[in-house]
Amino acid sequence: MGRTIHVRALGQQQGYLSWRGPLSPNLPGFVALYKGEKVGLVTYNIVDESCEIVTLNSTHLSSGVGTALIEAVRDIAQKSGCKRLWLITTNDNMNALRFYQKRGFVLVAVHRNALEVSRKLKPEISMIGNDGIPLRDEIELEMMLDDLAEQ
Ligand SMILES: CC(C)(COP(=O)(O)OP(=O)(O)OC[C@H]1O[C@@H](n2cnc3c(N)ncnc32)[C@H](O)[C@@H]1OP(=O)(O)O)[C@@H](O)C(=O)NCCC(=O)NCCS
Repeated sequence: MGRTIHVRALGQQQGYLSWRGPLSPNLPGFVALYKGEKVGLVTYNIVDESCEIVTLNSTHLSSGVGTALIEAVRDIAQKSGCKRLWLITTNDNMNALRFYQKRGFVLVAVHRNALEVSRKLKPEISMIGNDGIPLRDEIELEMMLDDLAEQ
């Protein structure tokens, strides 16, 4: 399926309405399409010279969707003059930690007990995450885009 995935900037007309996964409205993003069907979405936020990947979701796992979306954000971040591409994931998300590190991201910080603060605003956040792991910390990963340009 890898070669048949198309990635398009999320235009206003496409909106988020027909995306059934997690949303972050009003942010720019890219949608991945397979045979016309939406199979992935990434949203990002550029502030100064940093680009944060805010959400990344694939509905067709292990088919290259996530990788294509990461590449699209990395490219736009570079073209926009960003020096840093970064994101936050949670301590239970082993899949994301593997996925991002294999694509050039490095761990930069563990924000211990960050979920405790988040739960004060959103009490519905589960105490237990993936694989029964207590959901506690936020893990920050980054990719320095200057380094890529020099390679
Ligand atoms: C993390 C996530 C976005 C990855 O999406 P994905 O579409 O599965 O990503 P890819 O297909 O590009 O890569 C996943 C694996 O499939 C493999 N793969 C890709 N194309 C493949 C193919 N054609 N055949 C076999 N394997 C393939 C990749 O090598 C990769 O394995 P690796 O990470 O060990 O190298 C997805 O798991 C997801 O939506 N998770 C839930 C939400 C989440 O955790 N988001 C991140 C939070 S910060």
